[in-house]
Amino acid sequence: MNKLYEIIKFPEFGDNRGSLTTIEFNSGILPFKTQRIYYIHNTRVGVSRGFHAHKKLQQVIIAVSGSFELHLLGRNSKEILYLSDPSEGILISSFIWREMHNLSDDCVILVLASEPYTESDYIREFSEYLEHLEARTC
Ligand code: TYD
Repeated sequence: MNKLYEIIKFPEFGDNRGSLTTIEFNSGILPFKTQRIYYIHNTRVGVSRGFHAHKKLQQVIIAVSGSFELHLLGRNSKEILYLSDPSEGILISSFIWREMHNLSDDCVILVLASEPYTESDYIREFSEYLEHLEARTC
């Protein structure tokens, strides 16, 4: 069975003032050179996001506030992860279908991406995604 994701634990420094989590781009903790950061915020409860896979891009997804469910689908496997820990990132490779569901009203999702934004890297139709998987087994 293909592994759909890896968990990356970032260094967290907590004291009586709160917590501080750090991501050093040159520390080797990430398997790619981060080219882009974006964050999803001001979401509405009941609204889901994602519904795509990437041809090349890898990314790390972090719930920096609140929580959500990350649904992942690959060739032979499915996973549902509950993300709520701001010091934990989920590394997703290319050709993994992802959906984000059940976002809490305070949810902020931070994404570190290995590539600049390129619409042609997206696979947004699920039927097309299945065709890509099929083609990659041949
Ligand atoms: P979209 O991919 O639909 O978001 P999600 O996968 O979370 O549902 O992106 C929303 C819009 O933002 C879409 O018009 C593309 C644009 N966008 C950029 O311009 N740059 C980016 O880095 C990203 C991630 C999206």
